[in-house]
Amino acid sequence: MNVKVAAVSVWMLVVGVAVAFEANYDESKVPDYTLPDPLVLLNGEAVEDADTWTGKRRPEILRLFEEHVYGRTPTGPMDLHFEVTSTDENALDGTAVRKEVTLLVRTEQGALPIHLLLYLPGDAEEAVPVFIGLNFYGNQTINPDPGITMSTQWMRANADMGIVDHRATEASRGAAARRWPIDMILERGFGLATIYCGDMDPDYHDGFQNGVHPLFYDDDQEKPAPDEWGTIGAWAWGLSRAMDYFETDPAIDHDHVAVMGHSRLGKTSLWAGAQDERFALVISNNSGCGGAALSRRAFGETVARINTSFPHWFCENFNRYNNNEAELPVDQHMLIALMAPRPVYVASAEHDAWADPRGEFLAAKHADPVYRLLGTDGLPVEEMPGINEPVAGTIGYHIRSGRHDVTDYDWEQYLNFAEKHFGNRCRQ
Ligand code: GCU
Repeated sequence: MNVKVAAVSVWMLVVGVAVAFEANYDESKVPDYTLPDPLVLLNGEAVEDADTWTGKRRPEILRLFEEHVYGRTPTGPMDLHFEVTSTDENALDGTAVRKEVTLLVRTEQGALPIHLLLYLPGDAEEAVPVFIGLNFYGNQTINPDPGITMSTQWMRANADMGIVDHRATEASRGAAARRWPIDMILERGFGLATIYCGDMDPDYHDGFQNGVHPLFYDDDQEKPAPDEWGTIGAWAWGLSRAMDYFETDPAIDHDHVAVMGHSRLGKTSLWAGAQDERFALVISNNSGCGGAALSRRAFGETVARINTSFPHWFCENFNRYNNNEAELPVDQHMLIALMAPRPVYVASAEHDAWADPRGEFLAAKHADPVYRLLGTDGLPVEEMPGINEPVAGTIGYHIRSGRHDVTDYDWEQYLNFAEKHFGNRCRQ
């Protein structure tokens, strides 16, 4: 009996090896594909004016992304309470005000604390525009500032980031500071806010038992329905709770909040910006598959691969499109179009083939007709620009030299883009 079982597992292993995923990095092997037209309604009628876009096609596309890709975000009742847990008027050598705020969410099923960290320019005389982005390993990683409260949440293993036994240690303080050039951001008159993504949902597949999901289950519900939110949905929902807080804080110009995210958190910033139009500007940094890159190109990471490696990120229905991208009723250019006419910026990196830079550019480009219909200049370039040649209309795009990362170069472009669109509210 034991022998038989062993033989079966070897066979499965052999099959497993035989079908092992191999990413395509060859442009000539990208399949032929036809993208769904963002300006044609599901009933076949053309969208010819802004009212039809806003009243009919936009809600239709949003529902398609909910049902087939990210899952619906619950709208059930919740109580939200804000508590400022620390303030330092002289943080970062007196250049910044640091605030920590707990956003406490309660439903009949339980409570969830979300820990927001906020830096504002110390010399601000009026409400300032703010960038918000989720972080991967706790608020204490974004700056060595010893005043930042250390996260006690579960984290993915990462010794280089000072994570031991899935918990942050003192060594994690400032470990991601390179990706958060706070001095540059403050000097240009912006604030910076961040939350650890694991506050909303730790980044592993536990069948949606921890994090925010259970707070919105019906009495006998044990996991989200096939068209309900996964982990990216939960992370995006947290960004909207931060926005709820910004609306109450007079130090923040909540009409000028830019949401920014890298990689899986860039997928999240796009989904947050699509659902919550209070975000005035949206930035995707190297977000790739399930973010800014067109799924139908199947270049680098694919839908099947992402749903296998990260089965908790999207909704269950998204699995229908594993090796079956042509059947998707949407593609990611339509996600970018959901930001219109708000400014949106897509950034790629030269050596980030896994995220398909060309697919990211093409998605931005194919969102352009919607931006034009709404009277903006869209993405004012026909061909993919060269390395380190940013283009900025109402859609911005660059491909920077280097690898999958967030660099000062990326931030410089985001700050320029925000200044361009937020006008003279910010110091130039
Ligand atoms: C993996 C994953 C990507 C994701 C990235 C990240 O590489 O396959 O989809 O963007 O992790 O979040 O760092």
